[in-house]
Parts: sequence; structure tokens; C-alpha cells
Amino acid sequence: MIENKPTIVIGADHAAYDLKETVKGFLVEMGTEVHDVGTHGKESVDYPDFGIMVASTVSKGKFKRGILLCGTGIGMSMVANKFPNVRAALCNDIFSAVMSRRHNDANILILGGRIIGDILALEIVKTWVETPFEGGRHQARLDKIDGIDQKELINSDPDG
Ligand code: RB5
Repeated sequence: MIENKPTIVIGADHAAYDLKETVKGFLVEMGTEVHDVGTHGKESVDYPDFGIMVASTVSKGKFKRGILLCGTGIGMSMVANKFPNVRAALCNDIFSAVMSRRHNDANILILGGRIIGDILALEIVKTWVETPFEGGRHQARLDKIDGIDQKELINSDPDG
């Protein structure tokens, strides 16, 4: 049983529609409220549209945690990590899921529906939902990420 869980916002493209439905059912069974932004079928869609819907709500603080799925998880990662306050982690294995919470306080979990099977995916989801952030020195590192000014990044090459 997953205790003290906030509502999780979830979204996927067609390539991971089936896995999204499986993950959603699992979370609901565990007593977690899920807000599903789609996609709602297997017709081809563009993953950024669904990544934006999930990442924007987490970015604004409307939802504390989100889950995004696409074929590899790579495209959704690219989309989600463009949003301020989003720390999206592509975790197609359990160790990454644990560490993304303990060290990175990841607030969006990304899964590759064409890479992992259902049983592993559900173990990853359970682990990710239940693992707390360790804080301390890891918070200081996250603060450094928050301090990055995207407009200044292009000028931050030490060789000029
Ligand atoms: C869709 O074919 C595929 O490109 C998408 O699901 C994802 O893997 C992108 O990164």
C-alpha cells in the first residue's frame, strides 16, 4: 500500500498508451488519485503535446508529482526538463528510480513503454512513489540547478 500519496498527473503518447493504462490502474488500486491528460487511444500523436500538459502542471505546483511515458522516454525527458521546477528522471530500472528520488528529488518519472515490460514498470512506479528525498547536500545541488539562468547558459562556456 502506498501511503500519504498526492494526486499524480499522468500522460503518454500512442507508443506507451497501453503502459500508461496499466500504470494508472496500478496507482488507482493502490489508492492513489490519478489525473490522466491522455492520450486516450493508440492513434499516432505528438509526445510534446502530452509532455507539456503534464510538465506545466507540475511546474506550476498544481500537482506535486507526474508520470510521463513515450516509446523510449527520451522525448518526454527532453520536453519535461525544459520547465522550471521540473526535475524529470528517465528510469527504466529500479536503481535509477530509487536514486532519482533520494538524490534528485525527481518530481516527474519517465518510462519508456517500448523498453520495459509491465512488471518492471510497476515495480519502478511503486519504488519511485514510495522513496523519499534525502535532502542535505543533495538539496544544495538542486539549488544550483535552480540557479541556472537558461538565457545565460549559452555564455557560460569557460573558454569564452
Ligand atoms: C513515437 O514513435 C516515438 O518517437 C516516441 O514515443 C518517443 O519514443 C520519443 O522519444
